[in-house]
Amino acid sequence: MSWFVVFAPRPGSRVRATAPGRVNLIGDHTDYMGGLVLPMAVDLATTVEGVQGGDRVELTSDLADGVVSLELPVGDPRTVEPPWGRYVAGVVAEGDLGPGFGLTGAVTSTVPVGSGLSSSAALEVAVLLALGGRGEPDEVAELCRHAESAATGVPCGIMDQLCSAAGVEGHALLIDCDTLEVVPVPVPDDAAVWVVHSGQERTLAGSEYATRRRQCEAAADLVGALPDADLADIGSIEDPVLRSRARHVRSECDRVREMAAALADDDLSAAGAAMLASHASLRDDFEVSTPLLDALVEELAATSGVHGARLTGAGFGGCAVALTSPGTDLSTVGARAWRVRPAEGARLTVL
Ligand code: GLA
Repeated sequence: MSWFVVFAPRPGSRVRATAPGRVNLIGDHTDYMGGLVLPMAVDLATTVEGVQGGDRVELTSDLADGVVSLELPVGDPRTVEPPWGRYVAGVVAEGDLGPGFGLTGAVTSTVPVGSGLSSSAALEVAVLLALGGRGEPDEVAELCRHAESAATGVPCGIMDQLCSAAGVEGHALLIDCDTLEVVPVPVPDDAAVWVVHSGQERTLAGSEYATRRRQCEAAADLVGALPDADLADIGSIEDPVLRSRARHVRSECDRVREMAAALADDDLSAAGAAMLASHASLRDDFEVSTPLLDALVEELAATSGVHGARLTGAGFGGCAVALTSPGTDLSTVGARAWRVRPAEGARLTVL
């Protein structure tokens, strides 16, 4: 299935495609249930530069060992070695690309891997553009989301790929994952965003991500679409696990609206409060935090200049995001920390 993305490479031409990673300010584990999210594309990005055409995709990477060498068309992306090549193969497979649609080049990236900054989505979107794929951001994102699932078996939502494709400089994106409507929300000048690593690496393939999604779907079978479900109906779900999962999705969507409104009003303490409440819900109702992430968020919340903090992305390790005043320096907190700025989405340059 090639969605509505058209692949029109120009054999022999050299291209450079760049796609940003993202940090999610609020709204986690809502996208795959058709809920709201508020991610921001960041100034850490993945670039694929190469020559289009030929019958193979051959790529090196400055972040990982091994050369990805795929003959077109590709078989099952999940068997490709080295493992980062599975994301490349996923895009090639979902794009239905055969001989003539190849690419020879190199991947370079500043997006840290396994940190909750969507390095895989950035790679997929950059590869798609470098292969000559063209489409609206939501179409690009749909193809890449399916590529991610084909590569890893993880039934992920659309947030990461859509944010990478549709990013707007200086803005976070309020995304309705049901309609795929994207509304840019300016990040106030007197706010800074930090991503702080807990020191715990993780991959979603080995996590309980798929279990959480199944639990949410079981809850939605009982009370209807979770983002709009009636709170009393959610309260009457008998199974306590399904009840908590549903309560998280419903309340997280409310918090996304609150935080988007707070950023628009430049009310950073209200935005920070929504982030702290989100972390508590991900910890207690959704159970995707870890002791390290909880300790990190507590430390951040107690740091002067921090308005709020929460785990970001899927959880089970990875990073926390903090909203701070511009002069705050968090570079010595956690295992590693990055100050990130809201960046534009993916783009292609023909060299
Ligand atoms: C991962 C997935 C996203 C989303 C988040 C949790 O990043 O790829 O689709 O579900 O987890 O919000």
